Amino acid sequence: MDLFKLKKDFPVLSDKTLTYLDTAASSLKPKSVIKAMDEYYEKYSVNVHRGVYNISFIATQKYESAREKVSKFINSQFDEIVFTRGASSALNLVASSYGLNNLTAKDEIIVSELEHHSQVLPWQNVSNITKAKLVYVPLNEEGRITIENFKKVLNENTKVVALNYVSNVMGYIAPIKEIISLSHKVGAVVTVDAAQAAPHHNIDVKDIDCDFLSFSGHKMLGPTGIGILYGKKELLQKMPPIEFGGDMNDNVDKFEASWKDTPYKFETGTPPIAEAIGLGAAIDYLENIGLDKISKHEKELKDYTVSKMQQIDGIEIYNPNAETGIISFNIKGVHPHDAITFFDGDNICMRAGHHCAQLVIKWLQVVATLRVSFYLYNTTEDCDKFINSLINAQKFFKEMGF
Ligand code: ALA
Repeated sequence: MDLFKLKKDFPVLSDKTLTYLDTAASSLKPKSVIKAMDEYYEKYSVNVHRGVYNISFIATQKYESAREKVSKFINSQFDEIVFTRGASSALNLVASSYGLNNLTAKDEIIVSELEHHSQVLPWQNVSNITKAKLVYVPLNEEGRITIENFKKVLNENTKVVALNYVSNVMGYIAPIKEIISLSHKVGAVVTVDAAQAAPHHNIDVKDIDCDFLSFSGHKMLGPTGIGILYGKKELLQKMPPIEFGGDMNDNVDKFEASWKDTPYKFETGTPPIAEAIGLGAAIDYLENIGLDKISKHEKELKDYTVSKMQQIDGIEIYNPNAETGIISFNIKGVHPHDAITFFDGDNICMRAGHHCAQLVIKWLQVVATLRVSFYLYNTTEDCDKFINSLINAQKFFKEMGF
């Protein structure tokens, strides 16, 4: 991978003073994605599925070809891909459509303290409404979901397993394939939050056999405003829509209506057309490099950075053994929100806070963490800049009496 050439593809990185280490929150976008979206707005910026004229046919063809790209990207069928507003909407769709219509007070839903709010809160809502019991997999001492602990909570009452593939705070990869296989043995369906996995790792939904899988465009070089819900066709077909309106319907009478087949019954109103086209271009970009190369590169950067951080006294790293490019840490005695302003002063973009995952922050027994996250456009130079800034930050706060 020619990383220096690659940086040139990202207009934000033309500012050479900027170090971007916040991909877990949102990735930067390459020129090819911006160009694909500009082309839509400049040449055929019209609606899809409706217009009986040439540029509308072009828009529809490009929109649907983006769906084709997404389906190939995760090895699903074309009509198992629903475009949503983001990963959160996709996860909510599963809970509101599948969960509210299939669960009762006798049932159990397995989640974990490693979940993003977008995975745990929709199931809390389902649990409150249906009275199905929310059950937490105990995390091991490192903060991981293990098979051993998963087996302790799985039983014949489990109807839904809602877990992440990669944690956005700890960067751990969950043993998802085995979790899915065990869940299916008791008849549970598994909905996977892959927001931090799909941008970095090859996912084959047929191989892991998940029932639902959600991710967003903006964390994988694509635009904001688009997410993906993959669902097994036989499940999507049985699920009711949760939003009603234009384009999702078939026949409409005064007191009842019928819906289109999946995925269209879940895509009401004008869909995110430019966003789907941009996402298609993002997938082209990622596939051109190869996700295996990307994840290996991020892991190398993370290992390199962690080894340097471990040489500095007073740095608490919460996930030194993570398999991905995410580092969660704190400078002892310094509130992460104070620390982050120092990094910002060096034009280093990273995140401080609970990362929309308060349960794991509480599990760690801290108020918040600092988080560095790497992607394909990062280099060891970025790691060194961050380490220098970290050393200076620590010195600064010590001098200030922290
Ligand atoms: N979920 C995103 C993060 O982890 C926003 O930062």
